[in-house]
Amino acid sequence: MSIAPAVSDWFVDNGRDLPWRRPGFSAWGTLVSEFMLQQTPVVRVIPRLEEWLERWPTPADLAAAPSGDAVRAWASLGYPRRALNLHAAAVAITERHGGVVPEDVPSLLALPGVGDYTARAVAVFAFGHRHPVVDINIRRVIARAVLGQGEAGPAAKRDLVDMEAVLPESVAEARLANISIMELGALVCTARSPKCDSCPIAAQCAWRAAGYPAYEGKRAAT
Ligand code: ADE
Repeated sequence: MSIAPAVSDWFVDNGRDLPWRRPGFSAWGTLVSEFMLQQTPVVRVIPRLEEWLERWPTPADLAAAPSGDAVRAWASLGYPRRALNLHAAAVAITERHGGVVPEDVPSLLALPGVGDYTARAVAVFAFGHRHPVVDINIRRVIARAVLGQGEAGPAAKRDLVDMEAVLPESVAEARLANISIMELGALVCTARSPKCDSCPIAAQCAWRAAGYPAYEGKRAAT
């Protein structure tokens, strides 16, 4: 039995109300939030994201600004290369896609600063496409609950296959499962001191069933 239904039910009552999860949040907003979230915690991202989207509500608005303005507005988020990449992505969206954020993973991946995670996150969260999304929180939940390992280990192509295996067929349910499993990893199945007593899939967890064995190194990176 997949972990997805129980985690999705848990999310409906326990997931955080974050700006990019609200109905009607734009695809551009989703792209900006994912850039900001790449290396910065949620609480620090929220105020910067709101300011950013007020100042540059569309990719064309940002593309028309000097890249130095983007870097200055980014300041407190750290890793300013992300601001330059986001500015370059806004230029590319304006020039190649008529100012509309593209929907498909290959077009998203072709944008500056967009890697596999961000491309899938935007395709799934902004456009509702059915893909597995894989970030460190999701990899940790899968490693523990499904594979019975204490840690995720290094990223591998298998991660996509493992996540795909728990996703429901329905597009809407798959989207919810991606966001829910990510949230479980952020709030409950944390790297240190996981809160197994309040975990909705404790009874299904392979790591728990095995007696929480210590992590013994990476599995085959296929
Ligand atoms: N929701 C969608 N993407 C997210 C992320 N990167 N971090 C936290 N919540 C998210």
